[in-house]
Amino acid sequence: MASKKVVKLINDQIAMEADSSAIYLAMATWAVKNGYKGTAAFMFKQAEEEREHMYKFIHFLGEIGEQAIISKVTEPKADYRGLLEVMQTTLGHEKKVTASIHNIMSVARKEDDYPVTSFLKWFIDEQVEEEATANELIDIVKMAGKVSEYLADKEIGAKAAKKD
Ligand SMILES: [Fe+2]
Ligand SMILES: [Fe+2]
Repeated sequence: MASKKVVKLINDQIAMEADSSAIYLAMATWAVKNGYKGTAAFMFKQAEEEREHMYKFIHFLGEIGEQAIISKVTEPKADYRGLLEVMQTTLGHEKKVTASIHNIMSVARKEDDYPVTSFLKWFIDEQVEEEATANELIDIVKMAGKVSEYLADKEIGAKAAKKD
């Protein structure tokens, strides 16, 4: 049987996954509005995945005879300066989620709660992937920025050629 403390932490995690889904959904709507079709598609999918995470925790609590708490979702940020801020926000958020899951794991381990530690393993692996993906997205945006700098530099070179 899971302790009250662990059940509370899992319920907090359910809220965090719901917030994650809302954050990515808001990023998707921002992307749609600003014409970033690829990012919109990515973030809509990401929002779905976060809902699946939330369900995993909800079902797990049910399986161990506890009731999951469905709470209010925090209103997500809906305005971004550009893609780089979107991707950096994604990485920052995923790092917070990782820390939160690691904290539940650490408490469950101290309490010798084997079902919870076993269940959390999937999320620990998942967070490694989530952070790696967010880092990749940042790299993609940064590289694209370099491509436009490269084009600008060529243009500047062409101007130099015209100079006497
Ligand atoms: Fe998640
Ligand atoms: Fe995530």
